[in-house]
Amino acid sequence: MAYSNKVVDHYENPRNVGSFDKNDPNVGSGMVGAPACGDVMRLQIKVNESGIIEDAKFKTYGCGSAIASSSLVTEWIKGKSLDEAGAIKNTDIAEELALPPVKIHCSILAEDAIKAAIDDYKSKKGK
Ligand code: FES
Ligand code: FES
Repeated sequence: MAYSNKVVDHYENPRNVGSFDKNDPNVGSGMVGAPACGDVMRLQIKVNESGIIEDAKFKTYGCGSAIASSSLVTEWIKGKSLDEAGAIKNTDIAEELALPPVKIHCSILAEDAIKAAIDDYKSKKGK
């Protein structure tokens, strides 16, 4: 399968790989898996007092498209509010990376990971 240039770029130079302390009260962690292929993605956000995502990190055990999708979204969500980040659609990711139909579930994984991280953060804050 031929990957688009943007996928290759993110795959070869992934942005924001790593992790935060998941016990940090300002960190939300989202871990999601794709039943279709067994890939796993973890995305974490660090949120400041104003409710803005000031930093994001990911670790993805999966295909090039899944790595590229998570790398891309960590760039997108920095500087966004939780609502703005939660509004990112997998179709935005798939379009930006020019993912072929069989790789759409990789972008869904990234959308789900953002939502899971936001939910985790909110539950920590008791909201
Ligand atoms: Fe899971 Fe892509 S099918 S690595
Ligand atoms: Fe399964 Fe990409 S996440 S093929």
